[in-house]
Amino acid sequence: MNNDRKAQYAFGMVGLGTMGRNLLLNMADNGFAVTGYDKSEKMLQFFEEEGKDHNLKGFADINDFVASLQSPRTIILLVPAGAIVDSVILELQPLLDKGDIIIDSGNSHFTDTSRRAVELKEKGIHFFGMGISGGEEGARFGPSMMPGGDKQAYAVVKEMLEAVSAKVNGEPCVTYIGPGASGHFVKMTHNGIEYAIMQLLAETYEILKNGLGYNNEQIQQVFEKWNNGRLKSFLMEITKDVFLFKDVKTGNLLVDEIKDEAKSKGTGKWTSQVAMDIEMPIPTIDAAVSTRNLSKLKKLRVQLNDAFGSSTKINANEDFIADLEEAFYFAMAGAYAQGMHLLWQASIQYEYELNLAEIAKIWRGGCIIRAEFLEDIYQAYKKQANLEHLFADANVQQKIKQSLKGTRNVISAAIQAGIAIPCYAAALTYFDTLKTGRMPSNLTQAQRDFFGAHTFERIDSEGVFHADWNQKKI
Ligand code: 6PG
Repeated sequence: MNNDRKAQYAFGMVGLGTMGRNLLLNMADNGFAVTGYDKSEKMLQFFEEEGKDHNLKGFADINDFVASLQSPRTIILLVPAGAIVDSVILELQPLLDKGDIIIDSGNSHFTDTSRRAVELKEKGIHFFGMGISGGEEGARFGPSMMPGGDKQAYAVVKEMLEAVSAKVNGEPCVTYIGPGASGHFVKMTHNGIEYAIMQLLAETYEILKNGLGYNNEQIQQVFEKWNNGRLKSFLMEITKDVFLFKDVKTGNLLVDEIKDEAKSKGTGKWTSQVAMDIEMPIPTIDAAVSTRNLSKLKKLRVQLNDAFGSSTKINANEDFIADLEEAFYFAMAGAYAQGMHLLWQASIQYEYELNLAEIAKIWRGGCIIRAEFLEDIYQAYKKQANLEHLFADANVQQKIKQSLKGTRNVISAAIQAGIAIPCYAAALTYFDTLKTGRMPSNLTQAQRDFFGAHTFERIDSEGVFHADWNQKKI
């Protein structure tokens, strides 16, 4: 126990960068006594300046920092994912007691979180992997948080997390996610969906700009109108604002001055990798990850553009923008559905005991993928906790059906014009495949058996079979 008189702070933060500072200030705003640790004098200075009206303190010495915390100590890490998390844990561990809690709030890979949780459990320390979404603004004024770890230890942090989280209809955007690394798995999947929605917005921009010849102001107006309807979302909202933002350097619209090469930190890639590992199809998310990689092939793209030429204009009728709204709705629904399906399977595979309704509920506010549509997702899983796929929900089904005609019109027109729409196309072919009662995969099995004697199953009898295909030629 740590009953030292100095032990006056309820929560500690390691890492006083922008996210760490903002989250601590948010905690202080909510009446919690907080302390921070950072090796950088500059970060400590920022922290104390920004928090001068609150009950908080910053330390450059880890011993003093740990000694200032009440028991059981709760320490949040907001440091870059990877080796730094391990080295911070190594530093902290000898200073902690049984029952203390470490919460890693970076975007750590869930397998690292599993390993760390097991290692720390041996020492009696509770380790949580807690995804936080919402960027700087979210951390300061209310993020969506996805904590996974020991359920009993969660009771220690529940009140604080609920206080600092975003609220939707008065309900906090945080919930106990599940055991082990479930919190980081759910955050990773959130980011996979984030990649897909961002790419869908980029493809929509491409259709409007190069397919229809719209200028930035006109594109802004389309997105603004959509953001007042069922497509309302954080990403739609910020995207519309991007189109009117002036560059201080040139006076032009900044979006036109930015290189067409997208970077990434890896969470989207991890989502696709894991989905492949557990054999869950998430092609819209995969397409978004691949498209970021395609964007990096600038030189080759320019060379091939010279060889094959550019896309052409779309011959749009008066309903085209309405159809495009339907197409966005359809593809967006597909991206969320794929992410939720991945979570459904991961819950079984890794015994995460995920409550998909609660996850959709806490994504309605604070996070990057917050959107009007999450209310439909929440209601679908609330009605049916074991719903395998979002498209099996009657309400979503009806809305998807209504958007299909417009979706097919837009996708055919874009493909005809040679406009690249990897995520839109993936969303539609995913849907068409998923609703195919009998796929042509019987042929794949026949081929595998033909060249590799891998056997096949028959529709009329149990068991596995092999044919001597060379003998059976007609
Ligand atoms: C969030 C974001 C956040 C971060 C992404 C960016 O939920 O607040 O997802 O975690 O901005 O990691 O990811 P990329 O750099 O890979 O685009």
